[in-house]
Amino acid sequence: MEKLFNKARKTEFHRLKLAKKQQLTKNTFSLEFEIPASLKHRFRFEAGQYVTLRYTHNGKVFQNDFSMTSAPYEQKIALGIKINTGNSSTSGLFHTFEVGDSIDVSEPRGRFTLVSKPHEFRTIVGFAGGIGITPLLSHFKNILHTEHRTRLFLFYGNRNSHNIAFKDELDELAENSRGRMQVFYFMSQEKTGEHLFHGRLDGKKAKLIINQILHLDDTDEESTIWDAVDEVLICGKGDMIKSLANACYNNGIPKKNIHFELFEEYNEDIYPVEKVFPAVEDIQVDFKLFDRQYSTTLKNNKIKLLQQLLIQGFPVPYSCKSGICGSCECLLQEGEVELLENEYLTEKEERAGKILACMSVVLSKTIKVNFDLM
Ligand code: FES
Repeated sequence: MEKLFNKARKTEFHRLKLAKKQQLTKNTFSLEFEIPASLKHRFRFEAGQYVTLRYTHNGKVFQNDFSMTSAPYEQKIALGIKINTGNSSTSGLFHTFEVGDSIDVSEPRGRFTLVSKPHEFRTIVGFAGGIGITPLLSHFKNILHTEHRTRLFLFYGNRNSHNIAFKDELDELAENSRGRMQVFYFMSQEKTGEHLFHGRLDGKKAKLIINQILHLDDTDEESTIWDAVDEVLICGKGDMIKSLANACYNNGIPKKNIHFELFEEYNEDIYPVEKVFPAVEDIQVDFKLFDRQYSTTLKNNKIKLLQQLLIQGFPVPYSCKSGICGSCECLLQEGEVELLENEYLTEKEERAGKILACMSVVLSKTIKVNFDLM
């Protein structure tokens, strides 16, 4: 999965040898890297994290992030990648590099992770669109391996049955899970036997899934499977995430338990904002990011700080855009903001001036922030 920035942190690269390359579908492939013993400690990761590959295509250097499909216990870095178009950098990656070649690979990072709870009986639901399956595959393998009481439900949307990346691996996982994992495939452009499985994965589909699949629970006849859901993982395009996250939230899952990973630029809010603020115009913003000092002006405060900076093209770090992951954490050094939601910062951190740019509405004519906190 190709995705965007996370925390404002310098990227450490190491040269790794390509151990395996495999075409999965017409426009997806997987890469696997050999990790020398001397670098093993540098490539420890958690399920759901990603690495950045740095490579040259048509004379230009690209740095793209791709989620791991491997689980930590497998001790390898395996990635699933989509070829965006015939001339894209990912197409170059697929056609230029062969097994035995070396590529610059960053150390793993990312916040699309879950706290492991091996002693609990958990229910975890995943929604994936297309190549957004990659971090969910890592999570599901990891949970099956480390949490022997947790049950998993995966809802995986694709255009048609020829486009399903990692289908064999998912089916095998489900088959060997002793009933702990179930996978349901949805096709947006192919008729399926059952109407439920035809169409996009979105909020409307989520309601049908809740009523028709996650209904009465064999393990608790008084309740439904949906009532027992502890965590929801969503990965795919922005609109899909927005629609599904809101459906899950409106159907009772707390925001802090809805985790998502965007893999395209997306400037909209995931959850709607209902509060009204005094209007401020022509706001002067000075900020530090990746050791560089920037200055810009915001037309007004109708849109939150992070989204305004992204619209202006600044490489500000983010992941959830909903005050949950902490990727956009920064220090407010001057000025005033209203932090709309915060599931990440502690009270002490807030008192020390830390804010989440994705949930901050600027209330003063000038502000100064620092994203370089690490
Ligand atoms: S982007 Fe996740 S908290 Fe702001």
